[in-house]
Amino acid sequence: MTERMGTARRWLICLAGGLLLSSPVLSAGPDNVAELQNFVIQDCGSCHGLTFRGGLGPPLRPENIDHLSEAALSAIIREGIPGTAMPPWKALLNDQDIAWISRQLKSGRLLNEKSSTGQPR
Ligand code: HEC
Repeated sequence: MTERMGTARRWLICLAGGLLLSSPVLSAGPDNVAELQNFVIQDCGSCHGLTFRGGLGPPLRPENIDHLSEAALSAIIREGIPGTAMPPWKALLNDQDIAWISRQLKSGRLLNEKSSTGQPR
């Protein structure tokens, strides 16, 4: 009896450890698109609004960033805007992630996908 409980407990510990180790880390690659998408909505959205209509930061819908090229957006995301609340993200996101985000912002695709899953626009 005690032997069996001990085994069960060891299994649980192994399971928990495995989950921790396999928990996703933000990095490039098509397989982390869903994470990246959530990250942008949650983290960028915390300042720019969950639907990018603006908040502490300016709105980021395609019509609002018409004046910025994808490359310009990437530079802003990478380096932030010094002297403002817009932080640099290069420590957390690699160039590929940043380019992906810029592309999504330009196309508005993130917002469309979000609204098609029943989230408020
Ligand atoms: C802590 C708040 C905060 C977070 C988080 C944040 N931003 Fe910003 N962002 C700002 C502020 C404030 C500005 C405006 C700075 C200024 O006064 O020029 C800004 C400006 C920008 C601009 C320039 C917009 C324009 O029209 O010039 C872009 C693009 C941008 N942010 C993208 C992002 C992205 C993408 C993320 C997530 C990776 C993000 N921001 C996360 C606060 C934030």
